[in-house]
Amino acid sequence: MKLILTLSTMATALVFSAAVLAHGAVTPQSIDTSTLPTLGEEWVDTNPYRELGGEVKVEIIRVGESAYAQNCARCHGLQAISGGIAPDLRELVADFDGDEWYIERVVNGAVRNGAVYMPKMNEHLNQEALWAVRSYVESLTANE
Ligand code: HEC
Repeated sequence: MKLILTLSTMATALVFSAAVLAHGAVTPQSIDTSTLPTLGEEWVDTNPYRELGGEVKVEIIRVGESAYAQNCARCHGLQAISGGIAPDLRELVADFDGDEWYIERVVNGAVRNGAVYMPKMNEHLNQEALWAVRSYVESLTANE
């Protein structure tokens, strides 16, 4: 009897953790940015990948799409189409002011009254990955 109880408790715990994972309560994933132009530690103040084109841009957008899907989509929506939980990132204008606000959010997250609405993303993602994400979202806007 005791054994059966233990087993069913374990099964419940497993189902529960699977459910938590499905809802996206996961640690942000690091992203391999070795194929992207390096930017260093110091944050630049505007998207350094915006004006690039050609194959390197294709690679930036590929990495950005993957980083977005793993780290942002659960709140900001699949393919950056917001489901209403968090702002639609496609609406953040691709200019200096938009970049300034982007940096503010990915570096500091969004915390109000002790509640974390958005975690600090640059604890897990470097600036290359985060500008690649921005470039990916901009590429979606451009294709609309
Ligand atoms: C846990 C949910 C969550 C995750 C994960 C998340 N965000 Fe957010 N994000 C939010 C919420 C909620 C807001 C709105 C914050 C507020 O209420 O001030 C926000 C706001 C932002 C803003 C400001 C948008 C605006 O129009 O004001 C940017 C930029 C942003 N997030 C980028 C990102 C990026 C890039 C990622 C992935 C690397 C990411 N977020 C991951 C929840 C999240």
